[in-house]
Amino acid sequence: MTTPALVFELFGHAALADDIARRCGVERGRLLLRRFPDEESYLRYEDEVAERDVVLVCNLARPDPHIPALLFAAATARELGARSVTLVAPYLPYMRQDHRFNCGEALTSRVFARLVCDHVDALITMDPHLHRYSALADIYTVPATRACSAPAVAEWLRAHVERPFLLGPDAESEQWVSAVARLADVPWRVSQKTRSGDREVAVAVPELASWRDRTPVILDDIISSGRTMMEAVRHVRAAGLPAPWCVAVHAVFAGEAYDALLEAGAHGIVTTDTLPHASNAIGVGAILADALLRHRR
Ligand code: R5P
Repeated sequence: MTTPALVFELFGHAALADDIARRCGVERGRLLLRRFPDEESYLRYEDEVAERDVVLVCNLARPDPHIPALLFAAATARELGARSVTLVAPYLPYMRQDHRFNCGEALTSRVFARLVCDHVDALITMDPHLHRYSALADIYTVPATRACSAPAVAEWLRAHVERPFLLGPDAESEQWVSAVARLADVPWRVSQKTRSGDREVAVAVPELASWRDRTPVILDDIISSGRTMMEAVRHVRAAGLPAPWCVAVHAVFAGEAYDALLEAGAHGIVTTDTLPHASNAIGVGAILADALLRHRR
């Protein structure tokens, strides 16, 4: 490492920022962030950032109220003489609008990527929702690292679930499901999903009856409204399998999604700590720290 780094957290990612800083052997910095009465953002670096590599660890679960402050933080670090600004966004939002499905729609994935790239020198994220884009470099013009949670998820699976059978709820989930299945050496299948609205999905599952002696684990990258998982849970139960574990990388959980998924028949819900949530049981700090160390080499 050349320049000493300083790790700051934004929007409630203190525990993960502490973990990453400790594992990388670098200092934590303090950033004061508050709202004026009219809700404009006030921001102040309480540690000297000049000539430092600034690392911003951001919780972007509910991105819209936070995007201006994130950009202010990155721009201010540069103005104050930071040598570099790296955004660690364990959950990268605005990846799902990756196509103009109807004329006149905003292609927000591209616009968001442009905004971020104007203000930071590098991006590190975990399991971004790459569907119609094949790589982050399709839209992110700064060096962008795609860390992968599969080793941590596979380790959790090996330690907590007897004779698992992995099911992906849609075609996109194949990338995560196949990686975890390979590492944990377990059988897997994926379903097909048709989405007709934000909360309207239909899932067509593969043949499941032959997995009745296994513990079903439904694995996806994101649980937002929870509808995708709920539909998959319904099919798993209808096929006569035991109540499934629902495992996701990013615990977005809009509204009452978490309780609704439990009520829908999930045996348990487990997520990684890319977003802070009560369901976090899989730590990814070591994987993100490793990505940061590699980036700084
Ligand atoms: C999209 O294809 C993602 O992989 C997830 O399946 C989706 O974001 C889950 O959304 P929801 O929980 O609202 O069904």
